[in-house]
Amino acid sequence: MTSNFTNPKSLAVIGASKTPGKIGFALINNLLESGYKGNIFPINPKEKEILGAPSFPSVMEVPEDVETAIFAVPAKKVPDVAKECGQKGVKNLVVLTAGFKETGREGMELEKKFLSICKKHHMRVLGPNCVGFIDTHTPINATFLKGFPVKGEIAFISQSGAILAAILDWSQTVGIGYSKIYSLGNKADLNEVDCIAEAAGDPNTKVILCYIEDVASGPEFIKVVSEVTGKKPVVILKSGASQAGARAASSHTGALAGSDLAYDVAFKRCGVLRAYSMSELFDLAIAFVNQPIPKGKNVAIVTNSGGPGIIATDKVEAHGLQMARFLKETIEELRLNLPPEASIYNPVDVLGDGRADRFRFALEKVLEDKSVDSAAVLLCPVAVTEPLETARAIIELNNAYPEKPIVAAYMGGQALADGAKLLSQKGVPCFTMPEPAIAALAGMSSYADLKITAGAGENNGSFKPDQKTVKAVFYDVSRDHRLTLLGSEAAEVIDAYGIAATATVLSRSPEEAAEIAENMGYPVVMKVASPKIIHKTDVGGVKIGVHTCDEVKRGYVNIMENVHRYLPKVVPHGVEIQKMAPEGVELIIGMTRDVQFGPLIAFGLGGIYVNLLKDVSFRLAHDISNKEIKEMIAETRAYKLMKGYRGEKPVDIDAVSEAIRKLSLLAVDFPEIVEVDINPVFAYERGITALDVKITLS
Ligand code: COA
Repeated sequence: MTSNFTNPKSLAVIGASKTPGKIGFALINNLLESGYKGNIFPINPKEKEILGAPSFPSVMEVPEDVETAIFAVPAKKVPDVAKECGQKGVKNLVVLTAGFKETGREGMELEKKFLSICKKHHMRVLGPNCVGFIDTHTPINATFLKGFPVKGEIAFISQSGAILAAILDWSQTVGIGYSKIYSLGNKADLNEVDCIAEAAGDPNTKVILCYIEDVASGPEFIKVVSEVTGKKPVVILKSGASQAGARAASSHTGALAGSDLAYDVAFKRCGVLRAYSMSELFDLAIAFVNQPIPKGKNVAIVTNSGGPGIIATDKVEAHGLQMARFLKETIEELRLNLPPEASIYNPVDVLGDGRADRFRFALEKVLEDKSVDSAAVLLCPVAVTEPLETARAIIELNNAYPEKPIVAAYMGGQALADGAKLLSQKGVPCFTMPEPAIAALAGMSSYADLKITAGAGENNGSFKPDQKTVKAVFYDVSRDHRLTLLGSEAAEVIDAYGIAATATVLSRSPEEAAEIAENMGYPVVMKVASPKIIHKTDVGGVKIGVHTCDEVKRGYVNIMENVHRYLPKVVPHGVEIQKMAPEGVELIIGMTRDVQFGPLIAFGLGGIYVNLLKDVSFRLAHDISNKEIKEMIAETRAYKLMKGYRGEKPVDIDAVSEAIRKLSLLAVDFPEIVEVDINPVFAYERGITALDVKITLS
C-alpha cells in the first residue's frame, strides 16, 4: 500500500450515478461533499455530467492521469473495467461491489480473474465487497456510508462493512472523531496489515483499532504489527473461531489450545491489546486518544460513596492493577482537610455531601502523590452533588497533571448528564459505571507492559540438535504409513533435541521384554506400543512398578490380552519397557501447530488431569525469548509447586526452561510435526526426565 493511499491526487468513480438511492450516487455525493481537493472523474456510459462534474464514458477517455479508481458497477463488469484501469495506468482500486468470493464458487472464480488482471497491471486493491475508505485530514470520503466523521486521532480498520456503518453513525452522536477509516471487505489484496502499517505512519493517528475475523497472513502480521505497537497502541476485536480449532486435536496440548488461543498468543507476542467487545474496543480507544499512558499500576480512587469505591477496588485487583498506598503526607493532608467521617485511605471517600471543592482537594492531593500513577473519580448524584463544577475541577487537574491518566464514572443519568458530557468533550473518558473506567486504565497499563518479547537468535546458542536422527525416525514412520510415532521413537526424537527422556525399548515377545528389563534394572514400567491407542491406561495397556523377570513376562501376556479384549481390531507393535523413574513434580510440555501462526508451545501442570485442571500457558514457538519462557512458567500454578510447595525442595526451573526452548526449536525445524505431548515430564531438584512422549506428524 502506498503511503498516500488515502490521499490520492485524482479519482475515477466508475459507476457514478445521478439517481439518488444508488450506491454510485451516494459515493460521488460523499466524495464531492467531503471537500476532497483532487480531481474527481465520474465514469458512466450514459451521462455527460454528474452532480456538476463532467462525466466520461470510460476511464480510458479521461484526459488526465487517474491515481485511484473506485468501482460501483455490478460484479460481472468488474474484470473488464479493471482491464481498462490497468491500461490507463491507474495505481489503486477500491471495489465496493459485492458478489465475489463471499457468494461461493462462481464468485471466487470471478475474484481470482479480477485479481490476476490487477496483478498484471500492478494495481493494489481494497475490497471487493467493502464500503471504501475515509480520511478526515485529506479530507476524503470514498464510501457510500451516511455522514462524515469529525476529525480525530483514531484509525479504524474493519473487516465488516456493517459494523463500520453502525460505528460511524454512533460516533457522530457521541462525538468520537477519526483520522482514517478502512473497510477491508474480502481482502483480496490489501488486508489489515497493510492498513495498520499505513495508519502507523500517519501523523494524525494516535491509536489503531481493528475489527477482524481472521488475519490474512500470520507471519506477516507478527512481523509488521510488532513494530507498529512499539510506536502506537493497536487494539483489536477479533471474532470467529480460527481454523486451528476446527481441526480435531488428538493431543492434550491441541485440545487445550482451543479455537482462538493462537490469536491471544500472537497478539501478546506483538504487543496488541485484545478487546472482547465493541464497547471495550472504543472505551480503550477513547482512553488512548485522550489520556497519557500510565507510568505504573498504582491507581487512586476518589469517590463520594462507599459501594462504588469497593466495586472499583475489586476491579483494580481483578485487572492486575494495584490500589496505590498513599505517602504519609498525603494521608495527613487528607485527614486535616476532609471531614472526620471521610475515608482518607484509598479509595478516598469524600462522602455523600462532597461538593466540587472536596473532590478537587482530594483529587489534587492524590495526583500530587508520587506513589499514584493514575486516578479514577466516581460520582453518584445526591441533592448537594455538583456534577458540572466537579467535572470542571477534574478537567483542570487533568491538565495540571498531564503525566497521570484520569478516568471518571458519573453513575447516574439525567442529573449528571451535563458534567459527563463536559468531561467527554474535554478528553476525560467518562463512563456510567466504574467497571469500564477501571478496565480502560487497565488496558492502558497493559500497553505499557506489552513490550515486544520475541528473542530471535536466542534459540541457537551453542546447542546443536541431531537433526539426522529425527529425519531417520520420521522416514521410518512414513515408510510404515503411520502418522503417530511409537513412544520409543518419540523419545528418540526429543532426545536428539537434548530433552532427556527415560530410556524406552520396544519388546516384541515376553522373553524379549524380560531380557530388556534385566539389562535395564528393576523396577520397570510396561506400556503397550501402538500408535492407534491414545489412552493406554484405559485399555489395561500399562503396568507400573514391575520388579521381576517373571512379572515382566506375565505382564506382557496380560497387556496383550487386555488390549485384545478392549480393541480386538488393533494389533500392537509390542510392549515398551521403560526404567521406572523416581517421583518428581509432574509437568507437561507440549506443542500444537496453528494454521496461521505456526507452532504454539505449551507448558503446565502435567499428569492425567491435564485437561481437567487446564493449568497450561502458551506462547509462539518461533523466536521464543527467555523472557517469554520465564513468563509462561510463572503464570501457571505449577510454578508454585516448582518453587517448592509446603516444604518440598524447589525443582530445576532452568532445566524446564531449556526443555521448552528445545521443543520450540524442534517444532520450528520440523514443520511436519503437528502435535507433541510430553506428559508427564518429571522435574527434579537437578534435571528433568520425560516419561511419556507423543508425536503426531501431518
Ligand atoms: N462503466 C461505468 N459505469 C457503468 C458501467 C461501466 N462499464 N456499466 C454500468 N455503469 C453504470 C450504470 O449505467 C449505472 O449508472 P446509472 O445509474 O446512471 O444507470 C451505474 O454504473 C451502476 O450500475 P447498475 O447496473 O445500475 O448497478 P447498481 O447500482 O444497481 O449496483 C452495485 C451496482 C455495485 C451497487 C451492486 O452490484 C452491489 O455490489 N451492491 C452491493 C454493494 C455492497 O453491499 N458492498 C459491500 C458492502 S460491505
